[in-house]
Amino acid sequence: MTADTYIIQGGAPGRERLRLLSRVMRPTTAELFDRIGLQPDWACLDAGCGGGDVSCDLARKLGEAARVVGMDVDAEKLALARSEAQQAGLSNVEFQLHDFCTSGGPADFDFLYARFVLSHLPDPLAALRQMRKFLKPGATFAAEDTDFRAHFCHPPHPAHETYVRLFSATARRRGANPDIGAELPGLLREAGFSDIRVRIVQPCGYTGEVKLLSPLTLENIAASVVEAGLADEEEVNRTLAQLYEVARDETTFMSIPRVVQVWARN
Ligand SMILES: C[S@@+](CC[C@H](N)C(=O)[O-])C[C@H]1O[C@@H](n2cnc3c(N)ncnc32)[C@H](O)[C@@H]1O
Repeated sequence: MTADTYIIQGGAPGRERLRLLSRVMRPTTAELFDRIGLQPDWACLDAGCGGGDVSCDLARKLGEAARVVGMDVDAEKLALARSEAQQAGLSNVEFQLHDFCTSGGPADFDFLYARFVLSHLPDPLAALRQMRKFLKPGATFAAEDTDFRAHFCHPPHPAHETYVRLFSATARRRGANPDIGAELPGLLREAGFSDIRVRIVQPCGYTGEVKLLSPLTLENIAASVVEAGLADEEEVNRTLAQLYEVARDETTFMSIPRVVQVWARN
């Protein structure tokens, strides 16, 4: 089911995009964790952990008394995450294969975090309910996810507009929701969470890696775009070349999608 809705290339190439994404998101994700007030002895679950960047950040931040488990459906990314965690000497983090569309797990965790996962799932409410099963009573849930409608480039550029249109249409064609950010508080309420808090962040800039995320993402969804029949290879490649040009142009101000952060109590 997941393979059908996840439009971004997985495995090792997808891992490199996630590494850049994590660097761009690190400051605002760290602020979210500070607001929540993570405790050093918490058992934490990083749901849809990808290459495990946040899992490892959590393991480092919380220290030896904490236990961090990263779970994902992509076995190749999990293998890379395991070896990177080992190389970094982190003994308080582990990685497990798990599909949140199909099952939950024992209520062992004090904290569950899901970044850029729910937007890719065909039934995010059902997945939230599965995720909730992993949480102890009173435990904390947090998610960050996108609203592509607020993804901007100034001055406007046709390649950027094409990219946003292609990403959104390809995701929707597969039953995913790239604009899920605005729906997250309501979904959390429906899934049974309480004390729901919200904050919006949106990394952006004239220079730097924040501007590389759009072309890199287009590169990683190219096969899905072509397969969906929304553009041919030639249009994707032309858009890609223009997007890299925009990224290099230091007079152009670009964002990533608006990111909605939500956190709540189980
Ligand atoms: C955009 S990536 C985000 C990775 C990571 N959370 C981060 O922010 O760096 C989405 C991840 O969700 C995983 N995923 C998609 N569907 C899933 C499911 N049903 N269960 C578990 N993981 C899933 C994908 O394999 C991918 O690694």
